[in-house]
Amino acid sequence: MCHNDISDTLSYSFTHHGFFNVIKTKKTTFMVVMSKSSENYTRVTTRTLAEMKANGEKIAMLTAYDYTMAGILDRAGIDVILVGDSASNVMAGHETTLPITLDQMVYHAASVVRGVERALVVVDLPFGTYQADSKEALRSAIRIMKEAGAHAVKLEGGSQIKESIQRILQAGIPVMGHLGLTPQSIYKFGTYTVRAKEETEAEQLLNDAQMLENAGCFGIVLEKIPAKLAEKVTKTVNIPIIGIGAGVRVDGQVLVLNDMLGMNKEFSPRFLRRYLDLNKEISIAVKNYTTEVKNQDFPNNKEQY
Ligand code: KIV
Repeated sequence: MCHNDISDTLSYSFTHHGFFNVIKTKKTTFMVVMSKSSENYTRVTTRTLAEMKANGEKIAMLTAYDYTMAGILDRAGIDVILVGDSASNVMAGHETTLPITLDQMVYHAASVVRGVERALVVVDLPFGTYQADSKEALRSAIRIMKEAGAHAVKLEGGSQIKESIQRILQAGIPVMGHLGLTPQSIYKFGTYTVRAKEETEAEQLLNDAQMLENAGCFGIVLEKIPAKLAEKVTKTVNIPIIGIGAGVRVDGQVLVLNDMLGMNKEFSPRFLRRYLDLNKEISIAVKNYTTEVKNQDFPNNKEQY
């Protein structure tokens, strides 16, 4: 499976579309072979995402939770697939993301990894598997990497989980941060409304983003915060910022797949754009099937042995 083979990206770019550029982050400066478009990468890596930010190429990220969908997304050219703990909502029907377990995340992540050849697969560490102490956090991240074959993990929070992030990074596991509306803290917030509208919370968020960059995270998801603040964070830190409900002036966007496909009628936040009405399409298909089965129109002569 290709997740063992993530180092060929740059040489491929050189052979087919190469030109040189210099990537500068706060920590390192390195010469890399650049690609004109992420489509030219055989594998998207954390390094690819840094190059895309440096090039001003936007990063497209979606969630997926199973093999079939992950394969479709991957072949359609998505850059990053997030195995989100939103699986707790859209797959398992829970009201929040809190109940999903590490075993369940490993199952979803392994299914997604089997369907993917090109995209970077990032997996959420579920609630309760990284907050108590950094050793537990590392054990959880190792399970995701080893048992699912994921490429990176994502954790919600800033300074309060700094130690956990550092320990995971020290083990060589790429970490993506997640700030703003962090759904695992929904009971603390008490509401799903926009975060960091007040100056103190906005300042804290900016500090947390800088902390995540300095710790060595390869990217940050910013969820449901004012677009102006997201733009400021994107300009301040050198790692890619992926927004969801954070405006257009970030380095990329992420949406929950089931929401953008229109599978869920009830969830309609302002930031959501529906690219399909799958709820309607599936209902029509199922109604037609049911009618044809009952009328014995299915199967017909050509559909039997
Ligand atoms: O779990 C998830 O799907 C997420 C996205 C909303 C970013 O964290």
